[in-house]
Amino acid sequence: MAEAKKPEILFPKAVIEQRVGELAEQISRDYEGKELLIVGILNGAFVFMADLIRGLDVPCRVDFVRLASYGCGSVSSGEVRITKDLETPIAGRDVLIVEDIVDSGLTLSRLTEVLRERQPASLRVCAFLDKRERRRVPFAADYVGFVIPDRFVVGYGLDYDEKFRFLPDVCVLEDIA
Ligand code: IMP
Ligand code: MG
Repeated sequence: MAEAKKPEILFPKAVIEQRVGELAEQISRDYEGKELLIVGILNGAFVFMADLIRGLDVPCRVDFVRLASYGCGSVSSGEVRITKDLETPIAGRDVLIVEDIVDSGLTLSRLTEVLRERQPASLRVCAFLDKRERRRVPFAADYVGFVIPDRFVVGYGLDYDEKFRFLPDVCVLEDIA
């Protein structure tokens, strides 16, 4: 029987751990003396968010949103709708959105626009991964774990068709599907 091809690991668990720790330190320094409201984007961000908040030295609360984007097949129309909204009022709070990956930028540019209307004291974005070359709209996250090339990755919360989220390493999809 042919042996299954070994998945190509882009970021192993130990490297992720180190980088997430650095991000948590940087965020803790930037928000010293404040209380954060961390907003996770479901489903992809939950693994990263769980690790990130446990590295923080500042107190935080958590809440979640879920978004759906519309389009034909894999081409997004650019329309992004909130299908599960926050349960916490954000006016006057320091809000940090946590996302698994920025790709076209459509999701985060829309979400930041919607949340800004609710008048938080501050609003920033922390993305675990950033595929800069794929942007369709200009968007820059305030904190980025790793900038990656245009390859489809899974693991550490990221999925392909809801699969592979449980993998502890970030892997390139071609090699494990
Ligand atoms: P965008 O920035 O609005 O295009 O969308 C970002 C979303 O696309 C992320 O939250 C992921 O759900 C998904 N996505 C983009 N690239 C990847 C990838 O390489 N692996 C897994 N999901 C991805
Ligand atoms: Mg996602």
